Amino acid sequence: MATSFCMPDIIKKKRDGNELSSEEIKWVIDRAIGKDGERCDDSQLGALLMAIYLKNMSPSETVSLTSAMTKSGELEWPDSPPDSCKWKLVDKHSTGGVGDKISLVLAPALAACGMKVPMISGRGLAHTGGTLDKMESIPGYNIYLDNDQMTEALETVGCCIVGQTQNLVPADRKLYKTRDITATIESFPLIVASIISKKAAEKIDALILDVKCGKAAFMKTIEEGRKLAKALVNASAGQGIKTRAFLTNMDCPIGNTIGNALEVAESLQCLHGHGPADVVDLVCDLGGNLLDLTDTMPLETGREAIRIAINDGSALKKFRLMLIQQGVEEPLATSLCNIGMDDVDEVWACLKKAAYTTDVKVEKAGYVAAIDGYELAIISRNLGAGRTKDSDKIDHAVGIRLFVKHGSKVNKGDVWLGVYHSGEQSLPTSTIDAINNSLTIQDTEVQPMTTRVIEKVD
Ligand code: URA
Repeated sequence: MATSFCMPDIIKKKRDGNELSSEEIKWVIDRAIGKDGERCDDSQLGALLMAIYLKNMSPSETVSLTSAMTKSGELEWPDSPPDSCKWKLVDKHSTGGVGDKISLVLAPALAACGMKVPMISGRGLAHTGGTLDKMESIPGYNIYLDNDQMTEALETVGCCIVGQTQNLVPADRKLYKTRDITATIESFPLIVASIISKKAAEKIDALILDVKCGKAAFMKTIEEGRKLAKALVNASAGQGIKTRAFLTNMDCPIGNTIGNALEVAESLQCLHGHGPADVVDLVCDLGGNLLDLTDTMPLETGREAIRIAINDGSALKKFRLMLIQQGVEEPLATSLCNIGMDDVDEVWACLKKAAYTTDVKVEKAGYVAAIDGYELAIISRNLGAGRTKDSDKIDHAVGIRLFVKHGSKVNKGDVWLGVYHSGEQSLPTSTIDAINNSLTIQDTEVQPMTTRVIEKVD
């Protein structure tokens, strides 16, 4: 006989702080998506989410929720892939940063090392940029691939960077929408199940998590980041995925650009072998760990393999093929990947350039002690690089370019930042003031940041 529960009893059980069984959780998720025509009332789902928000979930409840959501809509890959040996499917998730273009370099680098990377990415969230928005600054790039098209992309290229389709984890769509209107977004188990269910639905073998911590991240402290990382690793391992998380510093932006086309330009620089060290090193760290987790090669060799794929052009070749596979016309993909990219401004030979650029100069000599990534992200978003509501249209060409790093020595009058903008030719004084306020200069020498990685969690 089929198990039957009832929503008010389950809501009451959670409301009173009790643990739900995996059967109850699966039953609720089936009703949330209206499986077999049986749908719970939206108010009941909202009430349950609020009870979860207030009373939390145990690690085993979170694993059950993740499993139930995953099963609501998974991808299917061929049983006997044409390239003879078993696919090693891998992916990475970042909790969101400023200037975070890691995926654009990591996916093709991993593909060049023989991995299959079905990277399902998101749009910008709050002040953080989104990989899909960045990819869409390349004319023709199609983020909507169905399961068959993704399979073809993995067979022919090895990687794809796509958006969530209608039938991938519909339970997450339903829950996310309901969380959004019931003030329950910030619940740890709900965040964890939402993130991991989408990764588990890709049926990956290994996952690397980049949990950003600091001023420009959602997790402001290392303690918060560690708690989220542990919960994510636990839920992911509970789905049978080999998982490792890294807490990484996100006080100042990563790399030297913020904004969509500008970040594509910097990713191309990386793929030409001369990207900024903080981006390239993190790509090598995360990629090396995935090669290690899949038993492809030991960690150090893996890091080196990723670095080689970046430096010898094989990752760039994969990037070009991925663009073509996802709808970019071949001449444009070829031209974009053929630019030398000694300087990010070379990209405007292929992508739309902002109407104006304004240089901002250092007001006093000294050493760069801090660059406020959060403030710069808000400024970039207000220029049009991000959204404040769903319906906002992005201006892919606008953004910010940094000419200094944490620890740089600067003289008064040096250009430390370039703004790429549209609209009026001159920027409002309030914007220039906000930009200057985001830079902290001190008289004494500052040790440059040698690595973004704070700690590993597995
Ligand atoms: N990203 C997701 O996919 N879900 C969340 O709940 C938060 C971030």
